[in-house]
Amino acid sequence: MPLKQKPAGKLISFEGSEGSGKSTQIALLAEHIQLLGRDTLVTREPGGTEIGEQIRNIIVHNSKGDEMSAETELLLFAAARAQLVREIIAPALVAGTVVLSDRFLDSTTVYQGVARNLAMDPVQMINAFAVGNVMPALTIILDVPTEVSIARIRRRASDLPDRMERESVSFYEKVREGYLVLAKSMPERFLVIDGTQDEATVAKQVWAAVQKLLA
Ligand code: TMP
Repeated sequence: MPLKQKPAGKLISFEGSEGSGKSTQIALLAEHIQLLGRDTLVTREPGGTEIGEQIRNIIVHNSKGDEMSAETELLLFAAARAQLVREIIAPALVAGTVVLSDRFLDSTTVYQGVARNLAMDPVQMINAFAVGNVMPALTIILDVPTEVSIARIRRRASDLPDRMERESVSFYEKVREGYLVLAKSMPERFLVIDGTQDEATVAKQVWAAVQKLLA
C-alpha cells in the first residue's frame, strides 16, 4: 500500500488590537481543526518559548519599561520571534502541523512601524531577518473600533494595565488603521473580520477561510 502523504503544515496568524477576541477565536479554531484529525499548535507572541517569555516579561511588565526606546522594543519583539520560529514554528510546519499564532510579524509592522512611527524600511528588514522564510499562509485580522478595544481591556484587567495597555487612544487608533491599510495592500494573505459580531458568527467566518486553506 502506498504511504499516505503528510499534509503540508500551515501557519495562520491572528492579528488585531488588544481585546479584539483573538485568543477566544484561536481556541475555537484549534478545536475545530483537531476534529479534522490534523495536528494543531497554538502559540503566542511575544513568547511561546522560554527565551521568548523572558523577553515578553521585559517588554510588557518591566517596571522600567516606560523608559524603553522604540528601537529597543522593535528588536526585542524581533528576537522573541526569531527564537519562536526556529525552535517551534518551523519544525512544526515541517511535521505537517497547522500552527495558529496569536500575533506574528504584522504586529511589529503596525505597532512599532505605524504606531511608534519607526522608519518602515528597517522594520521590514528586521521582520524579514527574524522570520527567515516562515510566513503565514493566512492572516486573520479581528477588527474592533478603538473604544471597544479599550473598554474590553479595562473590563478584563484584574490588575493594573501593562505597559502596552497604558498607551493612548490615538496610539490604538493608529494600530487599527495600520492593520486595515496593511490588509488592503496584501488582500491575498489577509482577511479582515468584524470583531464586534458575536463569537459564533466570527468563528463561522474564520472557519470558512481556514477550511478553504486546508482543503
Ligand atoms: P498581547 O497582550 O496581545 O499578547 O500582546 C502583547 C503586546 O505587545 C500588545 O500590546 C501588542 C504588542 N506587540 C507589539 O507591539 N509588537 C509585536 O511585534 C508584538 C508581537 C506584540
